[in-house]
Amino acid sequence: MNLLFYMRDASAAEWLHDLARALPQASLREWQPGDDAPADFVLVWRPPRELFAPRDGLRAVFNLGAGVDAILALEYAHPGTLRPDVPLVRLEDSGMAQQMIEYVTYAVLRYLRRFDDYAQLQAQCRWQELPPYPREHFTVGVLGLGVLGAQVAQALAALGLPVRGFSRHARPLEGVTTYAGAEQFDAFLQDLQVLVNLLPHTPATRGVLNAHTFAQLAPGARLVNVARGAHLVDADLLAALETGQLSAATLDVFNQEPLADDHPFWRNPRITLTPHCSAQTLRSEAIEQITQKINALMRGEAISGVVDPASGY
Ligand code: GLV
Repeated sequence: MNLLFYMRDASAAEWLHDLARALPQASLREWQPGDDAPADFVLVWRPPRELFAPRDGLRAVFNLGAGVDAILALEYAHPGTLRPDVPLVRLEDSGMAQQMIEYVTYAVLRYLRRFDDYAQLQAQCRWQELPPYPREHFTVGVLGLGVLGAQVAQALAALGLPVRGFSRHARPLEGVTTYAGAEQFDAFLQDLQVLVNLLPHTPATRGVLNAHTFAQLAPGARLVNVARGAHLVDADLLAALETGQLSAATLDVFNQEPLADDHPFWRNPRITLTPHCSAQTLRSEAIEQITQKINALMRGEAISGVVDPASGY
């Protein structure tokens, strides 16, 4: 079995070492420009289009992350890049949901418990109790109820907060009030205190975090974007923070990564930002999941996590 590996901006050595242990029967190689030799399985993160040159024997492409937008963007720009008979498979959780739960819970609790307000009081050496926000009105909305979004929504609900969830197709979720489809989008947004974005990035979701969306939220609401920078209209966020329609934002993802040195997000006191690290791909968990799926495919069994290019996730 031939396995081709490529990960942009990262060394392949540790991955190839661990993959060799997990799949001792496989012949492994890192993709180099010009390599169009046969491969049974391809494991990639943000690959160049040339990697998808016609390749004999290909049985599946594994994406080393949850979001497949970088690969599908190649297909949308150059139809036929992906072969329709070769499944594109994304990581399903593999340790990412727990990381997302930690990241989003931290951000929401920071806002609920007014840590930023207390930081300002501390800066003035002021000892002053602030009224707590009534938790029954501190409604959090989670956009996107996929593998990660559903778990984040339920973790927030377990804190006793009112939680709404929005997805393209109806998805009942215990403890969460769910909304589905474009016609319920504005009702989902109405008066939210915190909007958390965990949508997949597709042509339909691009720019969904915009002035219209922000205007539906409670005045002074907060935004947590842990999905993709392309969901956000940067200028609309800056304007909403300026008018007070939004009071704060926590951003892990950006339209351009790394974020340019002169981008206004860096120095905006209402924005907390992190370098796309809210849920990192964990090597051992990812290799375990992909190994199981390769073995299942070799036995002729069906696997989960296969992407539907038409819906984009
Ligand atoms: C990270 O952004 C991922 O898609 O896994």
